[in-house]
Amino acid sequence: MSNSKLKTINSELSNSPIGIFDSGIGGLTVAKAISDALPNESLVYFGDTVHMPYGEKSTEAICRYAIRIGDFLIGKGCKMIVMACNTASAVAFNTLKAHCKGKVEIVNVIGPVLDHIVHQDSIKKIGIIGTQTTINSDVYKKALAIRNPEVETMSLATPLLAPMIEEGFANSNISQAVLQSYLSDIKLNDINALILACTHYPLIKQEIEAYYNNKILIVDSPALVAERVKRLLQYDELLNEQTGTKHHFFVSDYTESFEKTTSMFYGTSLKLEQVTLPI
Ligand code: DGL
Repeated sequence: MSNSKLKTINSELSNSPIGIFDSGIGGLTVAKAISDALPNESLVYFGDTVHMPYGEKSTEAICRYAIRIGDFLIGKGCKMIVMACNTASAVAFNTLKAHCKGKVEIVNVIGPVLDHIVHQDSIKKIGIIGTQTTINSDVYKKALAIRNPEVETMSLATPLLAPMIEEGFANSNISQAVLQSYLSDIKLNDINALILACTHYPLIKQEIEAYYNNKILIVDSPALVAERVKRLLQYDELLNEQTGTKHHFFVSDYTESFEKTTSMFYGTSLKLEQVTLPI
């Protein structure tokens, strides 16, 4: 292929959107960080609200949803797909990556967090909180055991947190009581860092920091994932240099209450479009 033809293909691809998906609207925390870091990029977001919560689904089901959503985002011309869901990243990343091989690059929310913490010598004992499926997968524990066996890891499923946040109870007496009950679990004694392994949890990061009197490192994924996306697009020469972004936010089950909740996760309220996938 001639150089000029290759250049045209690359510039068309640069203008293509970034695909992002989550079980619902929690992944909008990641979408927001990506749009802040890359204001020229268009986004196609898909929230699989009909199957939410993923945290209670089987690996087989989540892999099946991920493949359908991957196909949908590829159909929308996305140049990259970001799994803005810890649960899907924990159990369906390899499946989706294999399915999309040669078509688009897949980014998950776990790798950037692990890369960020693995060389921080001050971390001796790290806690991980997330959905039941994320914690059962042991993905963080296994990766850390290989990459830094000196670090002790302790995982705790905190399934009430995501629905609590979606119901609008972040930063309230209720969230304080629920956090107190989870974070006082003996498993998390003496941790000096905590991974928020769910894309809903950035909304309660400050409360968690306050619980620990700002004495331990609290790590969430949105900014780290946005940085990773930027670096990969830069490397592949796929950053959009043009202005005039066009975002689309799809859900598999539309309700007014989802639409209202979007502002909590994205900062501004969004117009949701309903789409039915063959799942
Ligand atoms: N946002 C999802 C995650 O990061 C959790 C919500 C769910 O269980 O679907 O794991």
